[in-house]
Amino acid sequence: MKQQLNEIKQAAVAALGNVSSKAELESFRIEFLGKKGRLTEILRGMGKLSAEERPVIGQMANDIRSFIESEIEALSSRLDMQLLEKKIAEEKIDVTMPGKRQPIGKKHPLTKVLDELKDIFIGMGFEIAEGPEVELDYYNFEALNIPKGHPARDTQDTFYINENVLLRTQTSPVQIRVMERQKPPIKIIAPGRVYRSDAVDATHSPLFHQIEGLVVDKGITMSDLKGTLDAFCKKLYGDKTKTRFRPHHFPFTEPSCELDISCPACNGKGCRVCKNEGWIEILGAGMVHPRVLQICNIDPQIYSGFAFGIGLERTTMRRYEIDDIRLFYENDLRFLLQF
Ligand code: PHE
Repeated sequence: MKQQLNEIKQAAVAALGNVSSKAELESFRIEFLGKKGRLTEILRGMGKLSAEERPVIGQMANDIRSFIESEIEALSSRLDMQLLEKKIAEEKIDVTMPGKRQPIGKKHPLTKVLDELKDIFIGMGFEIAEGPEVELDYYNFEALNIPKGHPARDTQDTFYINENVLLRTQTSPVQIRVMERQKPPIKIIAPGRVYRSDAVDATHSPLFHQIEGLVVDKGITMSDLKGTLDAFCKKLYGDKTKTRFRPHHFPFTEPSCELDISCPACNGKGCRVCKNEGWIEILGAGMVHPRVLQICNIDPQIYSGFAFGIGLERTTMRRYEIDDIRLFYENDLRFLLQF
């Protein structure tokens, strides 16, 4: 039996040499120490031994068992280590490898200039209002004192959804929507898309953007309009900018005006940018027509206000000396990356 035990020990040592994975180690353990394992098999025959032999063989079998057990444990932790090292090696990140460049987009020039305008007006205490691009005829025309058949409708032909629903031709309908739901004091700007069925050329697009402004309170006068817009122009085009208010006509303001600034390119001397005029038209404005206030249930005996409308494309074209409006909408990176 001693002989058999020694053979098992030798076989175990030899078999262990071939174990290279945890799974193999487990089969090895079952083969030698399992319930039907080789060592257990031998110990079953112990009953046949004499009383003197039994403790000796028992001791020997126990020694072999603990020898195999400690070998298994040692090998098991070595295999664990190997696994871990392999994992670390596989998951290693080479921090010296060049990264993949993630191109970051830029703001569209229209967005850049709009952000600037918003900053200026927010700095003067204005809030931002919004209105729908698909608008009712009532808000786009009727409530702005432009009834059906009014000649002002001819210059603002648009896309009709049906007789009463259209794509707004101006941001002025937001004036009405704001005055309907909010009583004075009102001090808002309303930027957004507007539409007109104009043929596309270097200065016209059926889709463009305006920024509407509206101030309504007690005691608002034309000098508030002039002071506010003069301050705005100086912030946008520089302190030296001069402003000039010319009489004009809009159905929803009375009196109405257009605002020119001294040409920022030549300081008013006359150049290519201002077509030798020395002045450049910036926006339309006026005192809110009493009838418009009335329509919105604001008493024109108590309140007055001024409004203005700025074209974003024209402002941006002037700012960056862009000579074709179509460039804004073509998504050509050679153009867009310049801003
Ligand atoms: N809505 C006018 C236009 O599109 C501009 C404007 C706005 C004029 C507000 C006066 C007051 O031409």
